[in-house]
Order: sequence, then structure tokens, then C-alpha cells
Amino acid sequence: MKKVILTGAAGQLGRALQKVLSPAEYELVLTDTAAAVSALDAPATALDITDNEAVIAFVDRTKPYAIINCAAYTAVDAQEKDVDLSYKINALGPRNLSIAAAKAGAKLVHISTDYVFAGDGSVPYTEFDTPAPKSVYGTTKLAGEEFVKQFAKEFFIIRTAWLYGEGKNFVRTMLNLAETRDEISVVNDQTGNPTSAMELARLVAHLLPTQEYGLYHGTCEGSCSWADFAREIFRLAGKNVTVKGVTSKEYAAMNPAAAPRPAFSELDKYMLRLTTGYTMANWHDALEEYLKEA
Ligand SMILES: NC(=O)c1ccc[n+]([C@@H]2O[C@H](COP(=O)([O-])OP(=O)(O)OC[C@H]3O[C@@H](n4cnc5c(N)ncnc54)[C@H](OP(=O)(O)O)[C@@H]3O)[C@@H](O)[C@H]2O)c1
Repeated sequence: MKKVILTGAAGQLGRALQKVLSPAEYELVLTDTAAAVSALDAPATALDITDNEAVIAFVDRTKPYAIINCAAYTAVDAQEKDVDLSYKINALGPRNLSIAAAKAGAKLVHISTDYVFAGDGSVPYTEFDTPAPKSVYGTTKLAGEEFVKQFAKEFFIIRTAWLYGEGKNFVRTMLNLAETRDEISVVNDQTGNPTSAMELARLVAHLLPTQEYGLYHGTCEGSCSWADFAREIFRLAGKNVTVKGVTSKEYAAMNPAAAPRPAFSELDKYMLRLTTGYTMANWHDALEEYLKEA
């Protein structure tokens, strides 16, 4: 049985991986912050990924086959004013896990984001395009990627986007708003790839046993604007809500604390085509699956 440490196990991806990774093949060792551990049903250990010594000691003791880092600081707007914590969790966290993984001879799976790109083009980004983040979150996640490349030996970095699973996310926010509103304003000039945590978890499960190490884009097929995403959520959930498209500028005027976001951050899964040929579900189908289970 292969031991796999999951950090951030109580988060959206962490929970999806617990459903997707086969118990016949893997023994999962769940970790998260002390607060998040208490929200999990399964036994889990409090492990702060920013604590270098604790991370190395825990990995040394556990002797895992792999570490999957699902832990991150994901509140994009809050990080604009919380730069040190953002670097600690999103850059030093993966650095610590990379050092520990290399020492223990373990594989490392690390998750990154489409927000590493500027988003000012109109052609989907491949893994070979140059990042130029606009937000603190994008900047510190890119620094995390660099640390993984520097310190881990056998690693997969997977950039995903617009993620939704069990937890706080755009789909849940829209469904909650639909309880009290019949019209909602949603940004219509940002394009990306909505991706379910289950589909991302299936990609992780696919890559994990391979030796196809490197940087990947991992998002559901197809793209849309946030406004179109909201319309599809309401259509599939049978909610009679009108989505009023607004520009990012109009949205920023309503929410001055909002971090700058890429206008066009569609990701091309070029590395998957070049390597294993694995394909991910279309975002409409993945959303339908999610809403059936929600
Ligand atoms: N959500 C998105 O739309 C999106 C888009 C692109 C990429 N991603 C990336 O996808 C990955 C998974 O995201 P997600 O949405 O599943 O995240 P999530 O639901 O926000 O979960 C993150 C987990 O990490 C934990 N955590 C935070 N700081 C930690 C620390 N210092 N030590 C250990 N654990 C810590 C959190 O605990 P607390 O709750 O106690 O803080 C939480 O349980 C992340 O790398 C994220 O950057 C997400």
C-alpha cells in the first residue's frame, strides 16, 4: 500500500481526492491546519505547511510514496493586503514540502493557478508561455512553482482554474444568492475554464503513478465568462435568476477591495496532449455532475 500525504485535506481538492484515490492502492495520511482538521470526519493531523521543521519531521516519519499539496491561501482579494502570509503559505509552504519530498524520495504534486498569467491576450496559454501575474495571489503562487522546480526532484505542478467542489466557491455563492435575488450582476469580460474539484482530482490520480514529471495545465474543456458560467449554473439548477453582465471596471467600482484578475486566462492543456493524451470532461458536463451531487 502506497502512503500519500494530503495537505489541505479539508479543502475542495483535498476532499475530492479522498473520494477519487483508490483505498486499494493508497493509504491517505490527511493533514491540514488545526482549525480545518476538526472539520474533517476522518482522522487527520494538524500540520502547518509554513513550518519548515515540522513539515520535514512529519514527512521523514511518514515515509510517503507521494505528497499532494492541496493547501493554499485561496482568498484572492484578502491577499492584496496580506502579502507576507500569502508568500508564507503559497510560496514557502510548497518550498518546505519540496525539500521534505526530495529528502524522503517522495513524489510531489503541487497545484497552481491560471492567475500566474497576465491575461491580456486572446490565445489560450500553454505551459511554455511566460507568466506575468497581476495579483498578489498570482505572484506568490508563481513563487511557489519556482520553489518546487528548485527543490523537488520528482514533481507534477498542475495549474488549474475557477475551481469548485465541497467548500466556498462561485457555484455555491451563485446558488446562495439565488435564494434571495432574482437578478444578479456578474462580470462578463473575464474568460476562463470552470473546473470541478472531482475532475482535477481524477487528473491527479491519473498522473500520480506515472513518471511524466513537469508542469501541466489541468482544467475542464471549454471556456466561458463568469456571467455565462452563472447562467449555466442557474439553468442546470432550475433557478429563475436573470444574470446582468457587468465589466470588470464596473465590478471593481462596486467592490474596491477586489484584486486585479486576468481578463483572458484560458489554459491550453498542451503538456497533457504531448504526454499521456489524458482528456478532461467538458465544463458543462462536470458542472452537471457537481449539481447532481450537491
Ligand atoms: N479555488 C480556486 O478557484 C482555485 C483556482 C485555481 C487554483 N487553485 C488552487 O487549487 C488548490 C486547491 O484549492 P482549493 O480551492 O481546494 O483550496 P481551499 O478549499 O481553499 O483549501 C485550502 C486548504 O488549505 C488549508 N491551509 C491554509 N493554510 C495552510 C497552512 N499554512 N498549512 C496547512 N494547510 C493550510 C486551508 O485551511 P483553512 O481553511 O484553515 O485556511 C484549507 O483547508 C490550491 O493550490 C489553489 O491555489 C484554486
